[in-house]
Amino acid sequence: LLLLLARLPPPAPSPHPAPLPAAAPAANRTTAPVSSTTRRPTASSSKAPEAPPHTDKAAAAAGPAVGAAGGARPVLTRELYVAGHETPHPELCPALGARLRLVLLVTSAPAHRAARDAIRLTWGHFAQRSDVALGFVLGAPPAALRPAIAAEDALYGDVIVGRSVDSYSNLTLKTLSMLEWMDSYCPRAPRLLKTDDDMFINVPRLLQFAAARANETMTIWGKVVRRSLPKRTTRSKYYVPPLQFPGKVFPDFATGPAYLLTADAVRPLLVAAPGTPYLRLEDVFVTGLLAQRLGVRRRAAAEFYNKKVAPHPCAVQRGVAIHMVRYHEQFDLWRKLLDGKTKCAS
Ligand SMILES: *[C@@H]1O[C@H](CO)[C@@H](O)[C@H](O)[C@H]1NC(C)=O
Ligand SMILES: *[C@@H]1O[C@H](CO)[C@@H](O)[C@H](O)[C@H]1NC(C)=O
Repeated sequence: LLLLLARLPPPAPSPHPAPLPAAAPAANRTTAPVSSTTRRPTASSSKAPEAPPHTDKAAAAAGPAVGAAGGARPVLTRELYVAGHETPHPELCPALGARLRLVLLVTSAPAHRAARDAIRLTWGHFAQRSDVALGFVLGAPPAALRPAIAAEDALYGDVIVGRSVDSYSNLTLKTLSMLEWMDSYCPRAPRLLKTDDDMFINVPRLLQFAAARANETMTIWGKVVRRSLPKRTTRSKYYVPPLQFPGKVFPDFATGPAYLLTADAVRPLLVAAPGTPYLRLEDVFVTGLLAQRLGVRRRAAAEFYNKKVAPHPCAVQRGVAIHMVRYHEQFDLWRKLLDGKTKCAS
């Protein structure tokens, strides 16, 4: 069956978002996320070089807002983020997560049905465990996709739809939507994996990884990028206007395709985001800027490849997260994860 599935043609539109440029223009004022505490903006973007070239005029457009006095000021995250979820699915997290060891939340774009299906048919099966939960987190879809999303959700019940408009520039808002969901519906689960819909996750290995670090607090594990410089040329896909981030060097951050965080970091991140200038690079924003300010440790873990790797069964079995996985590749990796015939060292 797996082989048959693996031969199904449909390549998924490749998901993983490269970082988007700038924040949307200031115009949309929206409700602030969770309660009224100050939040800070986030910017994250995976700097995956292999990410598709979504060009972003928005980046440059993400310019400053003009204050009442006429002076330019950065757009704060609370001006863009719309709190709440259209389909929260609290049942995905029974007892508020008290019996869970791990929550897997996968950011996905409304159009990426095939990518979600590939995950459901492969590593998503681990969500059948009583101690693992899985959900897909989408932004508000365009009207044309609403019926399809509703039908998909009726079938699987795992599509969590937020209220900020789904777009590349809004990736940071999608991550905040994910954190808000954890805080509201799953606050007792100890660990959250944030990942994307073009990722292969080795869930048993991740559970081991988490168990070996069960006493850690206020920590993010993943592929950590150190001393990365903001792009200051407006032509860059990763352009960051000085108003959004005036510093010379980004704080160390964990790249967006997959990172694991301790649950005690969720609320502080969520609270810090609204009052912070919006940064479209979700990983830089959440795991860099906010995490640094809050004293959340960023720990490098070699198991988070967060890139495409030659899919040898031993590499698949040793790693936690592989990036740039297309539809049919999910099935190949799944088979290799379960491969009991190849002898691997250790
Ligand atoms: C981002 O989300 C906000 C809130 O829903 C929306 O007003 C804005 O248009 C979105 N930006 C883009 C570029 O889609
Ligand atoms: C966590 O702390 C407890 C109590 O100190 C200890 O027994 C346990 O071995 C620790 N677990 C890990 C994974 O370090």
